[in-house]
Amino acid sequence: MKRKTVLSCTAAALFTVCVGAGAQIKPEDAVHYRQGVYTAMGWNFGPMAGMVKGEIPFDAKAFALRAERVAFLSTLPLEGFIPGSRVGKTDAKQEIWDNMDDFKSKLETLQTEAAKLAEVAKTTTALDALKPQFGKVGQSCKDCHDEYKED
Ligand code: HEC
Repeated sequence: MKRKTVLSCTAAALFTVCVGAGAQIKPEDAVHYRQGVYTAMGWNFGPMAGMVKGEIPFDAKAFALRAERVAFLSTLPLEGFIPGSRVGKTDAKQEIWDNMDDFKSKLETLQTEAAKLAEVAKTTTALDALKPQFGKVGQSCKDCHDEYKED
């Protein structure tokens, strides 16, 4: 009986902690989060670009893995753009929050194109066949950066 009480208190405490943390994300943490996600995105995008340009040898398996990672990572950044998080060292322009629907749709374009690339890369072993879809992914990075990222 006593033990049961202790357990339910613990569960209640954990719940409070979880909900509490979710309700008050610090703006600086949101900046770190989204920059971390984009850094990981760039990290995985780079070697694919290197293969496409012929700077590093083409490896179909490595390409497919990186394409899959970029597709997954593209689903993560949005929650880092909370209101009031244009703080500290950030390259995010104010326009993001002024045109949130357009910003979201640019992110969705990346998600769609990156998912297609990951799908094609699963079965394709010829670099030339991957180039057009890779180009679409790169274009979607650029389209958003041109408008919404300081550089
Ligand atoms: C929907 C908009 C959008 C798309 C699409 C997008 N980015 Fe970005 N990216 C941003 C913004 C905004 C920042 C600046 C974030 C900040 O500093 O707060 C950024 C920052 C970055 C950074 C710098 C991270 C840092 O630590 O400062 C890299 C690298 C990057 N993006 C790579 C990519 C790559 C590669 C793609 C495509 C595969 C991509 N991005 C697609 C909006 C986008």
